[in-house]
Amino acid sequence: MCGIVGAINHHNIVPDLLQGLSNIEYRGYDSAGIAIANQAGLITVKRQGKLQCLRDQLSQNKLRSYVGIGHTRWATHGKPNEANAHPHSTAEVSVVHNGIIENYLTLRQWLCAEGFNFSSDTDTEVIPHLISYFLHQGESPRAALCHALSKLEGAFALGVLFRDDPEHLYAVRRGSPLVIGQGDQGLCLGSDTMALPAYIDRIMYLEEDEIACLSADSFELTDQHGKVITRTMQAFSADQSAQQTHTHQHHMHREIHQQPETIRDTLRHTRRSLSDLPFDFNRLERLHIVACGTSYYAAMIAKYWFEQIARLPVDVDIASEFRYRAPLLSQQGLSLFISQSGETADTLAALRYADTLGQKTGGIVNVAQSSIARESRFHLQTHAGAEIGVASTKAFTAQLVVLATLAVYAASCRNQHTFTENYQLQLDLTALPGLAAHALTLEGHCKHIGQSLKNCKNAFFIGRGAHFPLALEGALKLKEISYLHAEGFGAGELKHGPISLIEQGVPVFVLAPKNQLLEKTLANMEEVAARGARCIVLGEQQSLQNLPAHIETLQLPEFESPFSPILYAIALQLIAYHAALALGTDVDQPRNLAKSVTVE
Ligand code: F6R
Repeated sequence: MCGIVGAINHHNIVPDLLQGLSNIEYRGYDSAGIAIANQAGLITVKRQGKLQCLRDQLSQNKLRSYVGIGHTRWATHGKPNEANAHPHSTAEVSVVHNGIIENYLTLRQWLCAEGFNFSSDTDTEVIPHLISYFLHQGESPRAALCHALSKLEGAFALGVLFRDDPEHLYAVRRGSPLVIGQGDQGLCLGSDTMALPAYIDRIMYLEEDEIACLSADSFELTDQHGKVITRTMQAFSADQSAQQTHTHQHHMHREIHQQPETIRDTLRHTRRSLSDLPFDFNRLERLHIVACGTSYYAAMIAKYWFEQIARLPVDVDIASEFRYRAPLLSQQGLSLFISQSGETADTLAALRYADTLGQKTGGIVNVAQSSIARESRFHLQTHAGAEIGVASTKAFTAQLVVLATLAVYAASCRNQHTFTENYQLQLDLTALPGLAAHALTLEGHCKHIGQSLKNCKNAFFIGRGAHFPLALEGALKLKEISYLHAEGFGAGELKHGPISLIEQGVPVFVLAPKNQLLEKTLANMEEVAARGARCIVLGEQQSLQNLPAHIETLQLPEFESPFSPILYAIALQLIAYHAALALGTDVDQPRNLAKSVTVE
């Protein structure tokens, strides 16, 4: 979602701002801009569309400055056009903003009555006008900023630059994450650590309602009443390699191919963390798992594992629904919040809600310093490394690995298995990295299938058991990056309505692992094949061996295990990737999507 950068330095910061914006392009955006302060006052340059449009504009301006802010905007209030792009500036102050100002309409009305003219439809524009209002009353920049903050309602992170205080850059956090960084060449700020330049070797995340005032060599942290806060920065080294696609055409392709390694790393780290878990699975009555999107599908798959393997009851919720259904949470329960970014606004709000109900809370996140990691009572990290492609791939399978490892551990804590059964599940987990590498060798076949979807309008995915939520994930992956309409269904549900959508040649992906549901899944396949569907069955050799010749197949590695959805996920990712490639969409930054969804 929207991204913030800022820098104050002894050298020209314009290249740093552009590099920072380029590093956070992956978050998803539809316009970009920067503001700098120099002898001419505040200069704001912004453009609708990709960062290249802003770069082209700046190459004509040859701007230079020691201090500046920048932003990539993902439209919420007002269209994605130049007027609505950030920074929003008055003559005296420029602001970049992530989040939402909830009382902006009231403030805007009042400021208009005071004679301020608005030029955008955004909620953000009230902020510079409000600060200007207090500057006009004779307040200092810092006092005017604090005064304005006291009037704002909502969640936000701000970078603020004053014409008459170019020796300082201000950063404010309320609800939305913001990090400041320091290195030998100066200080900077960013909405995440990816935004920070390579020379940064120390960082600090701002806490709620803190204001950081940065100069080129130091910073001061205060609360909104000016009280100084003392906190030391942590050492930091940027993962520059994540920004490169290396030999791959897209980040998504690279990330799909990193899975043998990310699964191995996540498995190793999760196994090590089990003895430190601050609760006892044996005493747990119920598990609640809350997440959004792909992370929610990981939770749905895990429900099958916890219930079947560990006999632990599980409720799964979409985070945006969780709080509003007044859930009945077991006092002897645990609520787990899954989020790759660790910043998803709905998941974070759900976590805070569960906390107020006195629940034990845990996070499963990929970003160790994220808000969900910091606010849950404990967290487990997926060791997927930075995920840049908007569509989640390696983070999803890493989430599944954490959940599978937890489910097996829960089973042994709850004495659900004999030693031999538990040993077999451990062997299954250990086999995953090698099997994932095997699944990647199917790319040629997946490419062929993906390309064949080019002229389709619809595609369907069906599965049973833990492969039902995987069918939902397969459909999500395909639709979000290729823009083809795709839906997933429980295979047994088709005849209760969706089968009316089946017509001649429509592709139906049938997830058919060799397990006790295979016969039933294949019977569901027959129902759609009989109505003209083009069935593509994914399964192991034994699932596929007796299928009629007109049924297409994709043979997965032999793995008769509850954890086989992890391998099927890789094949579905490759099919979606190649379909998108054939359709010529922007694979890494699909339209309208953001990597980190920080608004509810
Ligand atoms: C889809 C995708 C999204 C995210 C969802 C939650 O490929 O990536 O559906 O899974 O926005 O994001 P996190 O996991 O960061 O909370």
